[in-house]
Amino acid sequence: MSGKIHGPAAEALASLSPDDVAFLQSIPKAELHAHLHGSIPISVLQSLARKSKTSNAQYNDSITKGLKILEDGVQLEAIDDFFGLFPAIYSLISNDENLATVTEAVIETFIGSVDGAPPQCQYLELRTTPRSNRNMSRRQYLQIVLAVIERYPADKVALIVSLDWRMKPQDALESLNAIVNLYQEGRRIVGVDLCGDPQAADVDKLLPFLQAAQAKGLAITVHIAETAANPEHETNGLLDLPPSRLGHATFLNDEARARVLKEKIPIEICLSSNLLCKTSSSLADHHVLHWLKQEDHPICICTDDILPFRNSLLGEYALLLAKPPLGLGLARSEIERIAKQGMESRFRPRPPVEVVAEQED
Ligand code: IMP
Ligand code: ZN
Repeated sequence: MSGKIHGPAAEALASLSPDDVAFLQSIPKAELHAHLHGSIPISVLQSLARKSKTSNAQYNDSITKGLKILEDGVQLEAIDDFFGLFPAIYSLISNDENLATVTEAVIETFIGSVDGAPPQCQYLELRTTPRSNRNMSRRQYLQIVLAVIERYPADKVALIVSLDWRMKPQDALESLNAIVNLYQEGRRIVGVDLCGDPQAADVDKLLPFLQAAQAKGLAITVHIAETAANPEHETNGLLDLPPSRLGHATFLNDEARARVLKEKIPIEICLSSNLLCKTSSSLADHHVLHWLKQEDHPICICTDDILPFRNSLLGEYALLLAKPPLGLGLARSEIERIAKQGMESRFRPRPPVEVVAEQED
């Protein structure tokens, strides 16, 4: 269902011996940074598109064009080009049946056994942004996704709910209320993320919502310093939370790096994503090298969006093992350590909420 991979991860994987591949497959891995709508297998999207075309439900040319781009392989000049890909995907998945279908397909891609291959990972923290449309409220959106996630064991899959930089305060408030209520009802939400087009970032607008979620006990991860244009006060504001993990953290300045190191905040590293969005010019220049030089600073290797990037978690690990210039040429023992750090950086679901029975006099 996951399909063939392409690009730098595919080249790294192809350069490995069968024994190296078996080694990478054998280590327990956690996928902690995967966006639901960015991780849908293309075959599933194509089948939804065919269904939608036949029933003529909301089919339009932008869907055909969007799917063609994804099938042919996305060529991005810069990260800004990336966000334009999503509207076509969203217009296919605006009802509960399709949302449940894609959620299951994404979970199976990561933790299921696809075409007889071992699972990509042992544990998946899937993230998604609740969107309302004429068929559902943001709360209903989350309920549909959670209902699928909760069919799987709690030590296999959990949900992180994303707030998006482009949200208006009213949308963020609606999302926050849904997140907190569902969390307090004992549903399997483990954290809150902040994502979306970094050019639309406005830290003062969204920080209060993250603080409120954190005050209710939710772990926070934020896409931080994703581009060179993200300003220092935004990075500092986000680090002040403090977050439990960081996404990308590509352009942290020295002061911010020192703070992250001191506070030992795990960093979600998405190598193919950064190369393809051109926020890293090459593996040799990738900021992961900085963190690997630090004594035991936790990182986790993640895919970000396997639909446009056409990568896989195995391919991302291949980028660690393959010899330069195709990969970083790390030792197997180091890769085992990184995978273990990933597992240890999970936002574990808390024990089920205890319902205390009222005492009778
Ligand atoms: P969704 O939250 O399930 O709809 O997943 C897709 C969304 O994730 C996109 O619309 C973006 O807002 C967000 N996203 C995916 N990848 C990135 C990234 O690298 N940086 C920031 N946001 C991202
Ligand atoms: Zn991301």
